[in-house]
Amino acid sequence: MLSSRRVAAWGALLACLSVTLEARGPEEEGQYKGLSNYSFHDKFMFGVASAAFQIEGGWNAGGKGPSMWDVYLHEHPNYTLDSSNADVTADSYRLYKEDVSMVKDLGVTYYRLSISWPRLLPQGTDNYVNEDGVRYYKELFETLLANGITPVVTLYHWDLPQSLMVLGGWANPVMVDYFEDYARVAFKLFGGLVKIWTTLNEPHQHCSNGYGTDFFAPALSSHGVGEYLCVHYMLLAHARAYHLYNNYFKATQGGKIGITLDAFWAEPKVVNDPQDKIASERYMQMHLGMYAHPIFSKDGDYPLSVRQRVDAMSHHQGYSRSRLPYFTPEEVESLRGSSDFFGLNHYTSYLMTPSSLEPNWKVPSLDHDTGVRIEQEPSWPKPGASWLSVYPPGFRKLLNWVSNNYGRDIPIIITENGVSDTGGINDYARVDYYNRYLYQLLLAINIDHCNVQGYFAWTLMDDFEWKDGYVSKFGLYHVDFDSPNKTRTKKLSAYKYQEIVSTRLINFDTLDKRSLRRTVNRI
Ligand code: NOJ
Repeated sequence: MLSSRRVAAWGALLACLSVTLEARGPEEEGQYKGLSNYSFHDKFMFGVASAAFQIEGGWNAGGKGPSMWDVYLHEHPNYTLDSSNADVTADSYRLYKEDVSMVKDLGVTYYRLSISWPRLLPQGTDNYVNEDGVRYYKELFETLLANGITPVVTLYHWDLPQSLMVLGGWANPVMVDYFEDYARVAFKLFGGLVKIWTTLNEPHQHCSNGYGTDFFAPALSSHGVGEYLCVHYMLLAHARAYHLYNNYFKATQGGKIGITLDAFWAEPKVVNDPQDKIASERYMQMHLGMYAHPIFSKDGDYPLSVRQRVDAMSHHQGYSRSRLPYFTPEEVESLRGSSDFFGLNHYTSYLMTPSSLEPNWKVPSLDHDTGVRIEQEPSWPKPGASWLSVYPPGFRKLLNWVSNNYGRDIPIIITENGVSDTGGINDYARVDYYNRYLYQLLLAINIDHCNVQGYFAWTLMDDFEWKDGYVSKFGLYHVDFDSPNKTRTKKLSAYKYQEIVSTRLINFDTLDKRSLRRTVNRI
């Protein structure tokens, strides 16, 4: 018989084990073996994504104006990990027909790409439209459509015209007008061909890394101040473009328009620790809620918890106004409901614990306002970039968080998901990532009834990965950046994705190229 002390000790051990299990256990439902027990329905939108600055090159070709990323990289040649820039990158400006063939070969019927604002409007403003830019995008959209591929077009994927950057970029309210002007030009010119628009890509990453720190261009390091101005005016610019489309183009062009937000999943470090749970929720609200609540919640505006926190911190720090600007009642209304779908980018998860100050935080800053220390579980695989650990259940949890906060009526489209590695065409880690993340997506759809209608893999081919230059590879196709024609080669993950798209199932057993090819050929 066990003594009562030993029973208590066993009890404590079991309790401890169940904490760990509950933390990272039951969500690993399914066996990751054989064929998935759920499938994607026939209408599910499968696509692949890219962005102009990361693949086009031709930085000054055909009358294009400089973007703020072009200028920043030219002025700071050692900014990226490999001292590279995006002057040529995958040269899609010249080789876009190859890109379209690759998209087609994957079997997906949607391609998400972005327009380079300075290629269309070299000075940023609509007084002068660059004919070669018009030609390039028209040809690209027409080629896609001729191949049965629907373009999903992002208006702004971070490459602001330099002429607008010198005015302060998104920290300047005038950007709301200039973005609306740019959107009008794009809708007029391309709205006959493009039926799915997203206004902005990942405003959170853009504002916090580019305006709050120097991790992205324009590297303003205006922590806690400029980063919130950026949030505020990007949101208002989004609402303007949405209403412009809705009021003047939707009826005749018949398309949809939304926004793409990004989120890590915020996992409590110890699942049952009330403080860690509070920290996780606070992180979600400060990072995703700040952008999603004004648009997708019933009440609109910034989440109350965000409003109160930044107001209180600002007051305590001696500011006579909150560092987070206020919307007028009319602005709250214009933002509320201003998206036909919830575009969501997701890559990784972090563990959360409350903290009032960490050595690397600036004061004031979004980090300090959030008050959460983040780290990644050492056991989670990390095949490439330092920030990207693989934790598939976080994807399902995030989808549930979005659905619980903003309802199940709004369609969710995963506008990006993927993983980086250090290169090569036998990218087993990427195959595994797609298998597992897509399986979690199946669980979110089938068990949790999250309204997810589409999925875009990031990214079509290896490209310019911002601060990482060409060191981190996210592509389904390998690009030989040293070759004159930027030779593209299909990776194992491209075969895998092609198989998933055509079978609508996940086969965890096919891992080598030959068997993948056989399955694809059988279909
Ligand atoms: C999201 C961004 O939209 C994209 O540009 C970037 O390459 C990926 N994250 C991977 O970091």
